[in-house]
Amino acid sequence: MHSAFQTLQTDAEAAILGALTEPALEAVRVEFLGRKGRLADLMSKLGSLSPEERREAGQAANVAKSAIEGFFAAAQSRVTAAARTERLKSEALDITEPGLPATAGHLHLASQAMEEIADIFKGLGFVRAHHPEVDWDYYAFESLNMPKDHPARDEWETFFVDQVGSIMTGAKGKVVLTPHTSNGQVREMERQRLPIRMISLGRCYRRQSTARHIPMFHQFEGLMIDEAVKITDLQGVCDYFVQRFFGAGRVTRLRPYHFRFTEPSFEIDISCGACEGSGFKEGAKCKLCKGGWLELGGAGMVHPNVLKAGGLDPKKYQGFAFGWGIERTLAMRSGLKIDDIRILYRNDLRFLSQF
Ligand code: FA5
Repeated sequence: MHSAFQTLQTDAEAAILGALTEPALEAVRVEFLGRKGRLADLMSKLGSLSPEERREAGQAANVAKSAIEGFFAAAQSRVTAAARTERLKSEALDITEPGLPATAGHLHLASQAMEEIADIFKGLGFVRAHHPEVDWDYYAFESLNMPKDHPARDEWETFFVDQVGSIMTGAKGKVVLTPHTSNGQVREMERQRLPIRMISLGRCYRRQSTARHIPMFHQFEGLMIDEAVKITDLQGVCDYFVQRFFGAGRVTRLRPYHFRFTEPSFEIDISCGACEGSGFKEGAKCKLCKGGWLELGGAGMVHPNVLKAGGLDPKKYQGFAFGWGIERTLAMRSGLKIDDIRILYRNDLRFLSQF
């Protein structure tokens, strides 16, 4: 029995030294010191010995037990320290490592264009104005020479503001989401600050959705009123803008058109950037334009009835106005191949983050 306890002690020492992790050491503890372990097994055999042999074997058992427990205690602190070192290494925090940069966004393409457009007109002495985007019918239509029920209003496919089941009305008619920035024309005249050189950029709403139409879009409206303002002033301002925004070499043309609030009225076209205004590219018809020109927007000389609505004497004052779509103006800039302007408002970062 004596030698059996010595063998147990030697085996345990070797097994404990070989256990390098906390789980491995626990497995060795169960094998040797557990309730059904090898030491308990040997001790259960002591009962069958004579009293003499039992005393001697009992002493050997106690020596082996306390030696094995001593090995365990030493191994326990070795393994715990190793585990701690390992954990510290894997959880190490390098406070000198640079952090992740915050992802910064940028202004939307349309907002960038608005800043740029306002800046170009500022250079000509036009002052930026702001007008309501929810406004009275009077400013959106009536004061612009479009009386109630006039068929010309149909083109503006307007949203009316409905409140508690009934459309809001007041002294200035119903309330609308402005379908164009021209609602600012009479508002600006009412301020009685002459001469007027206004540029106003704002949101407009129409019940439309196609590759060239969106229900919420932006326009910029120019208004110049003074004594002796001529059509050639309008043309000069348009040319200046077009060359600054689209690049030198681009020219404009005025094409006769009809608006109720300007007389005469025009559509302003710009020479196509893809075919340089020729209408032909690489021996074939230019795919971007219709014969060398692209339509930019409406313009004209302010109608005498509109001047009167603004409290101005048409015999003394004249002026011009223009209103162009910002999204379409952007889509026409060479290099921006936007063939469906609805993409601007789909919140697709793959598209938006390119600008
Ligand atoms: C007008 O809105 C006039 N107020 C322009 C004007 C102002 C004429 C001052 C004379 C004097 P029109 O409906 O054509 O006109 O719209 C002008 C421009 O707005 C269009 O050429 C187009 O660029 C843009 N636009 C109109 N509807 C939409 C839409 N649903 N989505 C995107 N752009 C639009």
